[in-house]
Amino acid sequence: MTTKNGFIPGLEGVVAAQTRLSSVDGQRGELIIGGFALEELAGKATFEETVYLLWFGEVPTPDQCLEFRARLAAQRTLPTPTLDLLRAAAQHQAEPMDVLRMAAGTLSLNAPTDRHEQALALLGRLPTAVAAYWRLCQGQEPIAPRTDLGHAANYLYMLTGDEPSPARVRGLETYLNTVIDHGLNASTFTARVIISTGSDLVSAITGAIGALKGPLHGGAPGPALDTVFEIGSPDRADAILREKLTRGERLMGFGHRVYKVYDPRAAVLSLAAREMYETDGDMTLYDLARHVEETALRVLEELKPGRNLQTNVEFYTALLLHGLDLPVALFTPTFAISRAAGWIAHCFEQIEAGRIIRPQSEYVGVKGRRWDKHKIPTSS
Ligand code: ACO
Repeated sequence: MTTKNGFIPGLEGVVAAQTRLSSVDGQRGELIIGGFALEELAGKATFEETVYLLWFGEVPTPDQCLEFRARLAAQRTLPTPTLDLLRAAAQHQAEPMDVLRMAAGTLSLNAPTDRHEQALALLGRLPTAVAAYWRLCQGQEPIAPRTDLGHAANYLYMLTGDEPSPARVRGLETYLNTVIDHGLNASTFTARVIISTGSDLVSAITGAIGALKGPLHGGAPGPALDTVFEIGSPDRADAILREKLTRGERLMGFGHRVYKVYDPRAAVLSLAAREMYETDGDMTLYDLARHVEETALRVLEELKPGRNLQTNVEFYTALLLHGLDLPVALFTPTFAISRAAGWIAHCFEQIEAGRIIRPQSEYVGVKGRRWDKHKIPTSS
């Protein structure tokens, strides 16, 4: 609904940026990243290759890729103030997304002056912060990053100390590639607004992490998985989902502002999850999740007709990340680890665009009030 002054709640359908990074077609269910259809890219590229593609606009040559990977790996170690903050936060068992936001802020200390080095430092250090914090919360010491492992493998390694199997690395890499960028979503918009004021990358990424934290954006996969576990067996799916909808609850992992057909990311992640569970997991859980999804789509169509509510990326994110043994608390931080590369690429574009983002608001308050002089009580 648009008002006479052109206000559109939630800015739905408003085009507020031009980008070469990703194209989201919500009617056809198509996602293009750096010129590639998601299905073509996600399961084949390494995460570093996809980051390079977005930051520099080209697929890297093998030499460029090796150099980029080494430069990123060289930035993984956390500065002491960041580690100190993580230790303090662990004593409070603070929410991992709050901690990631605070940790990102500390990266202003000793930040490289060159913008590209700053970008590498942010991208390289966020996974280290997440893994280190998680271990501290479990009463374990952080594991130092390794420079000989790729970005995805090193993240899994820092969580457990075990070198992950190729199937697991591929599973995570497919996930990171899938969620790296997605048009002008809320957190990307946040990053672009911040950088458009002439502010810096650390501020933009810190703000974007705050936006991603909300359950309507990046916080849905945990609750989506909870629903699958709550259902527990296929025969309970219909009744439980119906009850939730009748109570006015939203089914997490379903519905999307842009996609009115099946989210292509859900299709890619469903396939990646199946491949991973087949080689390295529990197919009963995968089959249950498929059944929950089918039932949810049927019940949503019945109880919310005409809303075109389809599976979104978060549903299979939950299944895939759970299969990688990531705890639910790390689902959204892991999303942030990937999306940070997209946020940074958008910041580079926004800097090039060189115009502050400053929309207008429609005043709906009263006018013409009179300020009556109040007698200010004086203390005796
Ligand atoms: N379950 C039940 N009903 C839903 C759902 C859902 N998941 N999503 C939307 N609806 C219903 C609303 O209740 C509303 O019904 P009404 O017409 O009877 O009032 C109608 O569909 C339209 O809902 P809106 O809130 O206007 O849709 P919007 O485009 O603003 O919302 C959103 C998109 C926030 C993602 C929503 O679908 C939702 O809350 N989904 C659940 C949370 C989720 O999975 N979030 C992750 C999104 S993916 C991402 O951000 C990475």
